[in-house]
Amino acid sequence: MSKFKVVVTDYEYDSFVPEQEALSKLDVELVLKQCKTEDEVIEACKDADGLLVQYSTISRRVMDHLEKCKVISRYGVGFNTVDIEAATEKGIIVGNVTDYCLDEVSDHAMALLLSSIRKVTKLNNAVKSGTWDFNVAAPIYRIRGRVLGLVGFGNIPQTLAKKAQAFGINVIAYDPFVPKEVAQKLNVELVSLDELCKQSDYVSVHLPLNQHTEKIISHDQFNLMKKEAFIINTARGPVIDEAALISALQEGKIAGAGLDVLETEPIDPNNPLLKMDQVILNPHSAFYSVEAEIELKRKTAENVADVLGGYFPTYLVNKDVREKLNLKDKE
Ligand SMILES: NC(=O)c1ccc[n+]([C@@H]2O[C@H](COP(=O)([O-])OP(=O)(O)OC[C@H]3O[C@@H](n4cnc5c(N)ncnc54)[C@H](O)[C@@H]3O)[C@@H](O)[C@H]2O)c1
Repeated sequence: MSKFKVVVTDYEYDSFVPEQEALSKLDVELVLKQCKTEDEVIEACKDADGLLVQYSTISRRVMDHLEKCKVISRYGVGFNTVDIEAATEKGIIVGNVTDYCLDEVSDHAMALLLSSIRKVTKLNNAVKSGTWDFNVAAPIYRIRGRVLGLVGFGNIPQTLAKKAQAFGINVIAYDPFVPKEVAQKLNVELVSLDELCKQSDYVSVHLPLNQHTEKIISHDQFNLMKKEAFIINTARGPVIDEAALISALQEGKIAGAGLDVLETEPIDPNNPLLKMDQVILNPHSAFYSVEAEIELKRKTAENVADVLGGYFPTYLVNKDVREKLNLKDKE
């Protein structure tokens, strides 16, 4: 019998090579399950030392039944499916992976932005339906010298800023929690949200979804934006008030949108955005690349390997748990 049991509670992956490699230094049995309910999670995990979790909910009730679990590691950045308070109370470490797709999401935001500005999708659709005429894309304005406003200035938009600057775009950002020096170093000016809406030719949204950020971009913000502005969202759909966005597009208050995320996913077949050719829609795909997926799987399992090996993990969500545990810090 192996020394440790680690359960994958649910998954959408075909291979677990990165996880096996990350756990290979320890004597671990990796058990794959497709739990659909809390009771199934409890049944599969009650004697587990560690959990790898995709979408399963790990509630306080689930944790009440975990006899020796030391670590719960989530495939992804978000951890709203895990009861953090309960985990901390019980001395269970919660890990996530915050940096596996910084290039992918910032590249995708850039791709949506360039496709919107250069009307790549519109021209493609015209050619394929028999129209060979660049005028269907008019007007297109020169990119160099324009202003990109980043709503939120965390890891992804900081990566995006450098890519946009390479196109000659001036970058401003709204994020009251980011130190001025961080922005200065990247040649980005921090401004208020209203200023950002007024000044930007392009707005790109990068806020986490919470009670303060839900619908933070709504009618008032669209009213401040330029008629030629494009808005890009690769963060979370509900950060933008979708009804307000639809009105702004219908009334010509802004020029277009590139959306990887929506209020409701998958998209409702009656969503008016589907019929707007100034809107580019993608199915929450910005995080994805072959390399990002492997990195995510490896790092999610490394969180578990760290804890079972006696260390705090690289990506520790519930920092307050530190005082309850006698683990070492990694070099
Ligand atoms: N589309 C995708 O596939 C995909 C993939 C990964 C991440 N995301 C989304 O991208 C978002 C941004 O990712 P990140 O790595 O840059 O996040 P991050 O955690 O590095 O940064 C979040 C930033 O938001 C700021 N912030 C928080 N609350 C705020 C508020 N009320 N007002 C203004 N600023 C506020 C914080 O100060 C922080 O700088 C994530 O939260 C996630 O929702 C999407």
